[in-house]
Amino acid sequence: MYNTALLDTAQDTAAPAFPIPANCHAERVVSVTHYTDRLFSFRITRPQSFRFRSGEFVMIGLPNAEKPVFRAYSIASPSWDDELEFFSIKVSDGPLTQHLQKIVPGDTVLMRQKSTGTLVVDALTPARRLWMIATGTGFAPFASLLRDPETWEKFDEVVVTNTCRDLAELAYGDTVVGKLRDDPLIGELVEGRLTYIATTTRETSPRMGRVTTLIESGELFSGLGQSGFDPENDRVMICGSLAMLNDVKALVEKAGLTEGSNAKPAEFVVERAFVG
Ligand code: A2P
Repeated sequence: MYNTALLDTAQDTAAPAFPIPANCHAERVVSVTHYTDRLFSFRITRPQSFRFRSGEFVMIGLPNAEKPVFRAYSIASPSWDDELEFFSIKVSDGPLTQHLQKIVPGDTVLMRQKSTGTLVVDALTPARRLWMIATGTGFAPFASLLRDPETWEKFDEVVVTNTCRDLAELAYGDTVVGKLRDDPLIGELVEGRLTYIATTTRETSPRMGRVTTLIESGELFSGLGQSGFDPENDRVMICGSLAMLNDVKALVEKAGLTEGSNAKPAEFVVERAFVG
């Protein structure tokens, strides 16, 4: 009964009532995983012609209107993957996510043809250690970069921080990190080189606190033999809400790191996570 309902929905949406807009790929939903009432991930087929760099984002929409709403989504799968993965928030009145949160396997998702973004290893100058600092759905680009051998070729060590309101919201990041060591492509590269620091801010858990608090207190660096970011050895990527970006960026700049871009690689890069 349940499966039939899913199939009906899938068939309804598989034949969109509206024409596919120009410069768009129409891809099929392969799987959907719901983590909480606020967060879910999904995988879609990958067009053969679609190329991207791990860490980039692309515009996503649904074929449910003449002029569909598109939103920026970081691609969470690495550049070598056969499918494309995304990690999304659910907003009950969000122009896109109120509908997107209801997709099921077989449905159609629209994707614009060109990806872009600054959370790419090319936008950073070489150094020993890469920090990936995420809150909420800001973990998505790091799910991509962590699974790309290029990240491990460019940096000796990776520290990834993931902060969410509660433990259930950390589940997506926990799963991605947990599977790295068994990944046939990445497993050996990761061994002994990855530190994962997951914290909650609203639910009691083994490690608590906003990442900004942990940076300011120096707690984030305990075990590394330093009290803050080191411009010579550390490179930083930041992805989260606008307020989080501003606050973390200020702390990273205070430590003496300069912001980089594709045109001018430097010591840290930022990208706003999708929020509506
Ligand atoms: P808090 O619970 O104290 O608001 P959200 O889901 O609202 O985007 O939040 C994701 C995580 O980011 C939460 O743990 C939240 O903490 C934290 N957060 C929100 N704003 C900031 C900020 N300005 N700096 C650092 N962390 C933040």
